[in-house]
This record gives sequence, C-alpha cells and structure tokens, in this order.
Amino acid sequence: MLSPKMQEALNSQINAEYYSSYLYLSMAAFCDRIDLKGFSHWFRIQSQEEMIHVMKFFDYILDRDGQVTLTAIEAPPTSWPSALGVFEAALAHERHITNRIGKLVELANAEGDHPTHALLQWFVNEQIEEEASVDTIVKQLRMAGDAPVALLMIDRELGQRTLTPATE
Ligand code: FEO
Repeated sequence: MLSPKMQEALNSQINAEYYSSYLYLSMAAFCDRIDLKGFSHWFRIQSQEEMIHVMKFFDYILDRDGQVTLTAIEAPPTSWPSALGVFEAALAHERHITNRIGKLVELANAEGDHPTHALLQWFVNEQIEEEASVDTIVKQLRMAGDAPVALLMIDRELGQRTLTPATE
C-alpha cells in the first residue's frame, strides 16, 4: 500500500510527465512552423516517449492499489528564439525532471518504500539517457552556428528517430 504522501508525489509526477509530453508536442509544432521537419519529428517522438512515462506511473499506482488523480496540465510555451533555443529549453526541462525523480527517490528511501524505489531506478537510468541525447544535440547545434547546411544535416538526422519501446 502506498503512503498518502507517496501517492500524492507519484500523481504529481504523472502531471509532470504529461506536461513534458505537452511541452514537446508544442516544440514539435514550433519546429514544423520554422520548416525544420526533422526537428519536429524528433519532438513528436519525444512527446510519445513521455506518454510511456505517464503510463508507467499510472499503472504502478494502480498495481499498488492506489488512486490515480489526474490534474490540469499547464499550457506550454508556443515559441522559442531559435532551433538551438528550443533544444536548450528541452535540456533545461529534462534537468528539472531529473531533479524531480531524485526527490521521489529520497522520499521512497525515507519511507522505506522498496517497490517505489525499484520503479524509480528505471527512471533514474532513463534520465541519464534523456539528458545525454538532448545535450549532444545542443552541442551539435552550437557547433553548427549560423551555417544553414549544418542545420539541415542535423535536421535530416533528427528525422530518422524511431520510438524506442520502454524496457521493463
Ligand atoms: Fe519523462 Fe523526459 O522525462
């Protein structure tokens, strides 16, 4: 049985993951608007991945006989200064999520909640991967600078991304 505090924190994380999905979908729309279709595709996939994260927490709360409480999702921004700016914002957001996961781990430890701790280890590892992949793209965009050819090469590469199913 989840403690009321843990249940509330996990429900709050469902909201944060939904917001992530919403944010990345808004970033996909922005990139499409500035004609970077590969960037837009990458963010669409990212948005779908966040919904996998939502469902992991959703199913876990139900498996522990808890109550899922869905709350209003904040509206994300609709535009960013540039292609680099959008990825810098994505990196800042992933760091924020990593921080949230860290706090959940601390709460699970404080409560001696081993099942939740085990679930969160998946997210700890996922965040390493998420931050690393976005960080690489930010660095590539900084290298590309104002060179349109380099930007279009990155756009082509990002357009190849496929949805990786979450591993159990
Ligand atoms: Fe669900 Fe990108 O963290």
